[in-house]
Amino acid sequence: MFPLHRGRRLRKNQSIRSLVSETTLSPSDFMFPMFIAEGENVNVEIPSMPGIFRRSIDLTVEEVKELFTLGIRAVNIYVKVDESLKDNTGKEAWNPNGLMQQAIKAIKNACPEMIVMPDVALDPYSIYGHDGIIKNGDIENDSTVEALVKMAVSHAEAGADFVAPSDMMDGRVLRLRQGLDAAGFTNVGIMSYSAKYASAFYGPFRDALDSAPKENERVVAEPVEVPKDKKTYQMDYANRIEAIKEAVWDAEEGADMVMVKPGIAYLDIVREVKNAVNIPVTVFHVSGEYAMIKAAAEKGWLDHDKIMMEQLMCIKRAGASLISTYFAKEAAILLNSSK
Ligand code: PBG
Repeated sequence: MFPLHRGRRLRKNQSIRSLVSETTLSPSDFMFPMFIAEGENVNVEIPSMPGIFRRSIDLTVEEVKELFTLGIRAVNIYVKVDESLKDNTGKEAWNPNGLMQQAIKAIKNACPEMIVMPDVALDPYSIYGHDGIIKNGDIENDSTVEALVKMAVSHAEAGADFVAPSDMMDGRVLRLRQGLDAAGFTNVGIMSYSAKYASAFYGPFRDALDSAPKENERVVAEPVEVPKDKKTYQMDYANRIEAIKEAVWDAEEGADMVMVKPGIAYLDIVREVKNAVNIPVTVFHVSGEYAMIKAAAEKGWLDHDKIMMEQLMCIKRAGASLISTYFAKEAAILLNSSK
């Protein structure tokens, strides 16, 4: 008898579709990445990320309050550091009065319920734009990890709820957990960028923070060999099993959440990691993914809002508990208006 099955019964109208939908999105699924700049009343749009701004702390705080009223409950914080404060050790990263530490304090003060997750990595502070300390032409793992511990503890002292290591050094989750605990911050969590791929999708982010790997003339007398990319620490996008290994290790080392990054091109990895660990998986829908949609929409080639919601829903369907996305605010406004 033809046809045996009629799947279209469950797709007949919007009401039945809503009854059987397997995935939903809400503003609290999103985390908003924010770029912080020195100064006051500073609001600079990032050319490759229309609608995204580098803001001074005063304006950031206003934005955070607005995000909270929209239902967003977490922000990721990144800072643009003055060139004069950069060196090879990244020591500005744990300055108790540094830009990051001031930003964390100001946000928690103005909006205590917003979960603040500062980025833990040395690249904004590195004169070479690398996530760690360079020695003999390599990013030296263990000394970098010790620097990251100091950085994370200073974030916790400033009031961070979670720290978010995005550096891909080995063993950093374990040392961060030990360091936070030893300093009395047993309740400060770790969201680890566990499966972070060496990806060209980060281009606009590096424009925003001026953090692309680079040689710098201003540096020392002796020539330093600077790796031209981040491939000795970020993962090869040909690999799948390696992502599971990294996520499982981070969970064992004490991560409260793991992350897969970038998003859309890596949804197979999101699902595999989701099946492999029993802690929340977050996904970073990164700067280049944002830029592609904005550019195509500007040309009138794609429907901006529909593509945005489709991508966010598909990331959630793949297994994300949380999505870090530059679309957080726009998507929250859209979801709130269609209630
Ligand atoms: C740096 C960091 C990067 C991103 C988040 N943290 C860039 C990089 O690794 O070079 C990328 C985020 C994005 O592209 O939106 N540790």
